[in-house]
Amino acid sequence: MTPDLMEAGAKALEAHRAKVEQEVTSGDRGASFGRVLHGAEPDFAHGVALYLDDITVSFDGFRALNALSLAVNVGELRCIIGPNGAGKTTMMDVITGKTRPDAGTASFGSNIDLLRLRENEIAQIGIGRKFQKPTVYEQLSVFENLELALKADRRARASLFSRLSGVQLDRIGEILQLIHLLPDAQRTAGLLSHGQKQWLEIGMLLMQDPKLLLLDEPVAGMTDEETERTAELFLSLEGQHSLVVVEHDMKFVDQLTEGRKTVTVLHEGSVLAEGLLSDVQANEKVVEVYLGR
Ligand SMILES: Nc1ncnc2c1ncn2[C@@H]1O[C@H](COP(=O)(O)OP(=O)(O)O)[C@@H](O)[C@H]1O
Ligand SMILES: [Mg+2]
Repeated sequence: MTPDLMEAGAKALEAHRAKVEQEVTSGDRGASFGRVLHGAEPDFAHGVALYLDDITVSFDGFRALNALSLAVNVGELRCIIGPNGAGKTTMMDVITGKTRPDAGTASFGSNIDLLRLRENEIAQIGIGRKFQKPTVYEQLSVFENLELALKADRRARASLFSRLSGVQLDRIGEILQLIHLLPDAQRTAGLLSHGQKQWLEIGMLLMQDPKLLLLDEPVAGMTDEETERTAELFLSLEGQHSLVVVEHDMKFVDQLTEGRKTVTVLHEGSVLAEGLLSDVQANEKVVEVYLGR
């Protein structure tokens, strides 16, 4: 790397640090953060991570979600399938506070009413979301991306400008290994393959140790090998995190469900079928609206 490039990289890192610092210390967010954390920690004692009941979302009279009900257990890996327009992304928008439903209830654990929280508050209480397109800081290294994700976490706020502690370094190392990017730690993120960028973004989410991870079409555009490795990654997260994975790739869904987990089929904003992949694949209604196309 030339000195010029290194200087540019350092400047970019400083700029991002300043931006993140501004974001995490702004009074508005600070106030809401305090409210959430003092008020309630999610209670997972009943084994339920996420509970949606009778959720309806209308856009100009069109029901993107129509009395949708869904429960995901603590540590569960739940795959959601369904045709385009079924409401899968809208469901994630409701869970993360991006879209407010017209009716219904949504809770995280048995006690947190998601419909009363704002987007940033929902992220703070432990719900992480991966959008379809990777959004990493292209000009920073893989390591720096993870470092930023760690320091953007409010719980680590005191150490925003300090050196990483041993524990934090270990955590970054662990995540690098998990996302198969340890050999690429010092590479510029912009030079990674599409699949590697997706893993890096998942790693950035994991730095904040979310209890629930929402992944919208995570393997779209990945090679077969990357897809397989992504399935392995998700399987290794299962148990410690609850995962909701929206995906069209049936081979991937098959690998994730291991012949024994529940799959949910969405259609026209409601649950059309739920059960083992083999069962929903044999379900006539499912074949008609989705798989048989
Ligand atoms: N902001 C919006 N305004 C109007 N219609 C929307 C909006 N977001 C989603 N929709 C519509 O809601 C339906 C469900 O969309 P979406 O949740 O993106 O489906 P999926 O992710 O299952 O493909 C689609 O018909 C889509 O056009
Ligand atoms: Mg979608």
